[in-house]
Amino acid sequence: MYRREGIAMQTIEIKDNVFLLNTANTSYMFYADKFRHLQHVHYGDRCFISDFEALCLKRCIQYGDTIIYDEKTDDEYTLDSLPLEYGSYGNGDFKEASIEIEDDLSFTCDFLYVSHEVVKEDLKIKDLPSSYGSDSTLIVHLEDPVNKLKLDLYYTIYPQEDVISRRAVLINSSEREFVLHKLMSYCLDLFEEDLTLMSFFGAWDKETHLNVTGLVRGTCTLGSRVGFSSAKNNPGFIIRKRNTSENFGKAWGFNLVYSGNHYSSISKDEYSIHRIQGGISPERFHYSLLPGNSFETPEAILTYSGTGLNVLSDHFHRFINNHIVRSKWKNRERPIKINSWEGFGFDFKKDDLIKKLAKIAAKLGIELFVLDDGWFGRRSSDKRGLGDYNCNLKKIPGGISSLSEEIHKLGMLFGIWVEPEAINIDSALYEKHPEYAIKDGERQFRFGRHELLMDLTNKDVQDYIVENVGKLIDDNSVDYIKWDMNRMMDGVSGVYNHEYIKGLYSVLERVFISRPDVLFESCSSGGNRFDLGMLCYSPQIWSSDDTDPIERIDIQKGLSYLYPVSTMGAHVSASPHMQTLRQTPLETRFNVAAYGCLGYELDLSLLSPLEKYEIERQVAYYKKHRRTFQFGTFYRFDDEKDYEAFEAVNGDEAIVTKYRRLVHAVPVYDKLRVEGLEEDGEYKISSKPYLHNLKMFGNLINFVTPVKVNADSKLIEIITKFKGMDASIQDYKASGRALKSGIYLNNLFLGTGYNSNIRIPLDFGSDMYESRVSETTDKNKD
Ligand code: GLA
Repeated sequence: MYRREGIAMQTIEIKDNVFLLNTANTSYMFYADKFRHLQHVHYGDRCFISDFEALCLKRCIQYGDTIIYDEKTDDEYTLDSLPLEYGSYGNGDFKEASIEIEDDLSFTCDFLYVSHEVVKEDLKIKDLPSSYGSDSTLIVHLEDPVNKLKLDLYYTIYPQEDVISRRAVLINSSEREFVLHKLMSYCLDLFEEDLTLMSFFGAWDKETHLNVTGLVRGTCTLGSRVGFSSAKNNPGFIIRKRNTSENFGKAWGFNLVYSGNHYSSISKDEYSIHRIQGGISPERFHYSLLPGNSFETPEAILTYSGTGLNVLSDHFHRFINNHIVRSKWKNRERPIKINSWEGFGFDFKKDDLIKKLAKIAAKLGIELFVLDDGWFGRRSSDKRGLGDYNCNLKKIPGGISSLSEEIHKLGMLFGIWVEPEAINIDSALYEKHPEYAIKDGERQFRFGRHELLMDLTNKDVQDYIVENVGKLIDDNSVDYIKWDMNRMMDGVSGVYNHEYIKGLYSVLERVFISRPDVLFESCSSGGNRFDLGMLCYSPQIWSSDDTDPIERIDIQKGLSYLYPVSTMGAHVSASPHMQTLRQTPLETRFNVAAYGCLGYELDLSLLSPLEKYEIERQVAYYKKHRRTFQFGTFYRFDDEKDYEAFEAVNGDEAIVTKYRRLVHAVPVYDKLRVEGLEEDGEYKISSKPYLHNLKMFGNLINFVTPVKVNADSKLIEIITKFKGMDASIQDYKASGRALKSGIYLNNLFLGTGYNSNIRIPLDFGSDMYESRVSETTDKNKD
């Protein structure tokens, strides 16, 4: 990674009316012009404050058909053609505004520079989570001289992570009431041609799929109106030059520390200014801003890389690990879990769980047992029980505390599932407190997964959740909570949605900040709420209910652009897969889940001795390399024909995996590329050992067996439960330089014979390789 270690730098430079914000590799520049509007100058590679004149827009004559701001003073100055730091409606600016207010007199705003200050300590946002541990914050105070509204723009600098965060606060210092319809967290007017948008769209079971689209003149919007950050459009997105690739070119990344309805827009105007802005969704947003009151936006996260997308993602990853994630689990390796859901659903009894699942898991080296849905109240299916916290003693006779004790005795941590924000009508809670459910006026209830959301703006509801989840944790020595939320929010105003999200944050703050040892994994029907707001409380998030490894490659790859591996819950589940019915090798299921917080989610008692042996080896391998998988520098690769590849690097240890989609006859020679190692270092690269299932050879097995056997026979059935065939062990030696450009791997099987060096291809097969410093280099060092 390209870093400017050792170079003394000032993070905020201010000269006259010019502001320069510096991080290790990036600079952000703007200035207050002669009319005191803030004009954007530059966001990109490092520059000097003395570059201001050169980088500034040169305008020498009036544009046709525009409205002149102040004809008497300057008949060339028109806001519509200027790049601004924050755009507002009126005064001749026809670009999309970042603020929209309504009062009896006018919709127009004109915020002018008044003063600025630099603050060194962390500044909190009222009722919303935000990043922490910053170097410094620049606050620019603006005021509209006519309506007397004040607007403060905040710029917080994280120099080592190359991140600048932005947010806005609107203060009503007038005597009148205003209705606020829109207040974006940031606005950035970029001058660049040939820009491409990378957004992350999806649905339940298909989250964060990469969507790439060229930006044309007009407006492209991204957002959510499902009440939460949503799988439909993650709040994070990237703008890049058309030719930017993983390791080359310019890219700008954006995200929001917010979990509710969000909105981002990218408009390209006739002057090729790309106005990029984002914040709370303005849809159905009518906030009454009373005299003396203020409104604070969520924080937006901005980063830039001049050297490709891997570096851009690395900025996000390090920023999230260092300045978003809190608790004892910050930068701490996450335990390997076994989760009961995909193996058992609602259908379990304590004896099944303890005898058949937890015990086997403990033997295999798994560290955390998670009891998923179905343990409480009337919860025999997803139609009932939500809202209640009493243990179902028919399933777990001794209660949760005895179960937790037994799990702890097995040497594992104990975790449990809750869905505190939702309520079923068929529950003791609803019978007592029907007013806890959110209603849509006089309309009938419409259910989502048979449930309704609870009114988290109501203090009684907040207290009920805090008390019950807190008690569940404290009374039962719970080490881990999976906090689910499975209903989207509709029929409410934008302001209600925002108040709900603030209520949620307040509940999470009260439950988890005082219990920093508890590992909290949030979930929302999988990844329907994978965002930086939730990550301020939950160090990891369940990425998707889709655990099919081939689907997961796309999901985890999409997530990796914005979020680090340490935040992604990723499990090995049964094959054929529950949702896709696809059959995949156990090896590939592990090889994908390993680039995440690893877990297993299947009935382990149904596995053969051979599969258990393989899982035990996987668990041991993951533990040995966990730091690299979870916190290493993550790489994606361009141009991998027929393959996808992931890599994680921590010092000399690189772990690269190539995932094959479909096998082709006469395969091309393929290479292994390894990024991020010392170019002059000498490395040994070894493949991770694993076993092939003999059944995959069908009757071809007779070519190597001394006696003729039938592949469908009982005998083969029994043998394959205990015996597999070693995958070829490959060892290569190469310099970091050669590895970066790619080294050839052994031949793939061609159907012309077999020897132990040949790699066996399989549809959906994969191979994992690890690097270590070659012994020759070690000796040379001595
Ligand atoms: C949601 C979650 C799953 C599981 C079920 C339990 O769908 O995403 O992981 O916890 O709920 O009902």
